[in-house]
Amino acid sequence: MSRIVFLNGSFLPIEEAKVPFMDRGFLFGDGVYEGIAILDGHLVDNDAHLERLERSLREVRIPNPYTRAEWTRLEEEIARRNGMTEGFIYFQVTRGVAERDFMFPENTAPTVAMFTQAKAIVNAPAAEKGIAVITVPDQRWSRRDIKSINLLAQVLAKQAAKEAGAQEAWMVQDGFVTEGGSSSGFIVTKEGRIVVRPLSNAILPGITRKSLLALSQDAGIELEERLFTVEEAYDAAEAFMTSASTFVLPIVSIDGRSIGDGKPGPITKKLREIYIRMASSPRMAAE
Ligand code: PDD
Repeated sequence: MSRIVFLNGSFLPIEEAKVPFMDRGFLFGDGVYEGIAILDGHLVDNDAHLERLERSLREVRIPNPYTRAEWTRLEEEIARRNGMTEGFIYFQVTRGVAERDFMFPENTAPTVAMFTQAKAIVNAPAAEKGIAVITVPDQRWSRRDIKSINLLAQVLAKQAAKEAGAQEAWMVQDGFVTEGGSSSGFIVTKEGRIVVRPLSNAILPGITRKSLLALSQDAGIELEERLFTVEEAYDAAEAFMTSASTFVLPIVSIDGRSIGDGKPGPITKKLREIYIRMASSPRMAAE
C-alpha cells in the first residue's frame, strides 16, 4: 500500500505530493505544526492538540483553514487510509506560497500538509531500558510557546545528543533546564514529588505534560511547578520526559551521570502506566 499524505485538500500518494518552491515554510520556516499520537485507532488528547494549534496560528497570524471538526475528520481519514492504529500524525500549516519577501503576502492561502508515521509507542524498547540525555545550551528564540516549524536549535541539540550516544538533549538557560529538544522534562525528588518547569514563553506547553499532571494529581503524587537546575537533576531520584510521540519515557542518565540507581524509577513507571491507560481509553482521552 502506498503511503498516503494530505496536501491542500487532497489525499494522495506521497510521491505525488509537491509543495511549490516559493512556499514560505520552505523559505522562512514561516509556519506552525502539531503532532498527535494515535493509539488503538483513536486520537490521544485531540482537542488539546487542536486548541494549541489554534493558538499557535493566532500568535503568528496565519488564518486557520479548518474548524476543529474538520481537522479531526482529516486526522481520522489519514489514519484510516494508511491503516494506522498506533503511531504519530504530523500536520503543519505554513503562510503559503508567494514571491520571497519578509512581510505577509496578501490573499495567499495557507499550505496544509499532514502525514502519518506508524510506530510502536506502548511497546517501545526505550520505555523498558530508559534513555540517556545530555544537556546543551538553549539557543532558541523567545517565543518557544509557539509550536513553530523553525526547529534548527532542536535539530542541532538532538544531533549533539546522538553523537554523544544519548537519545534526547535537555536545553539549559541560566543554569535551569527549559525542556527537551522535542519533549517536556521532569525530575522526581527523593521525597517522591514531581518537579516540572511552569508554563511560560520559555517552553512549549506540552499536551502530554498537561494530561500527565492531571493524572498524577488524581494518583496523589505531589507536584512542584518550579524551575530546576542541571545539578538538581543529576541528584534527582528519577527523571523522565513526555511527548505525544513517546508518552512517558524514563531518563536513566544525564551527561553520563546515572540518575537514581540508573534504572527506570517506580514513580516514572507508574506514571507511564497511568498515562497509557488514559490514552487507550477514547472516552477518558476525550474528557
Ligand atoms: N515535540 N517541548 C518541545 C520543544 C517539543 O517539541 C515537544 C513535542 C514537547 C512535548 O509536547 P507534547 O506533549 O504536546 O507532544 C515539548 C513533538 C513530539 C515533535 O516535534 O515531534
